[in-house]
Amino acid sequence: MNTRAPWVVGVSGASGTPYARSVINGLLDAGRPVDVVVSRAARLTILDETGIAFRDAHWTEDLGEWLGRDPVDVRHWPAGDLAAGPASGSYPALGMVVVPASTAAVAGIAIGLSKDLLQRAADVTLKERRPLVVVPRETPYTRATLQHLLELHDAGAVVLPASPGFYSGAKSVDQLVDFVAAKVLDAIGVPHDLITRWTGELGAGR
Ligand SMILES: Cc1cc2nc3c(=O)[nH]c(=O)nc-3n(C[C@H](O)[C@H](O)[C@H](O)COP(=O)(O)O)c2cc1C
Repeated sequence: MNTRAPWVVGVSGASGTPYARSVINGLLDAGRPVDVVVSRAARLTILDETGIAFRDAHWTEDLGEWLGRDPVDVRHWPAGDLAAGPASGSYPALGMVVVPASTAAVAGIAIGLSKDLLQRAADVTLKERRPLVVVPRETPYTRATLQHLLELHDAGAVVLPASPGFYSGAKSVDQLVDFVAAKVLDAIGVPHDLITRWTGELGAGR
């Protein structure tokens, strides 16, 4: 019997692809299988932010280059594949993280649009009452986005903005990125060693 139970990571077309990289690597470091869905727009942000042209047909090489590791225990589903595993509630996914989440993805998930596999998988996650973490990246927010975020919250999703804290003594951009990934992993109960945790002592992280 196939007992693989992955976390689905949806990468939408907001700036902040390093957050997705850190979350996926954190899941893999913890020995958790990952299913990845990269939206069409996210190909542009990945290209813009990493120089990597993400191709469905060569996803193993492209994802490997992006993650900096062999994507063993990663499964990739094309965003246009609405017959993919995560499009169904009977697929044994544990839950889903949308990171980064564009305002378009936030809107689509909030209203159940399911315009592509990423949005459909998120809708399935909500209907199956599985954990859904949405990491919006935009600033400032419109009223519409604020309303959509509230709707996601009310539907049971964890809205976890890409807003790193500085109290754990980050000295590099990578550490700030890891801070957000750490909060995502905390939200879904996956152990990690990405940040120095608050101890109750001011200045301890410096
Ligand atoms: C380089 C680049 C950066 C973008 N950054 C953002 C962003 O930070 N936040 C956002 O909501 N949309 C951003 N967008 C716009 C989204 O990609 C666009 O709304 C798209 O329709 C999102 O589609 P998706 O949700 O299917 O990925 C960006 C687009 C590009 C090309």
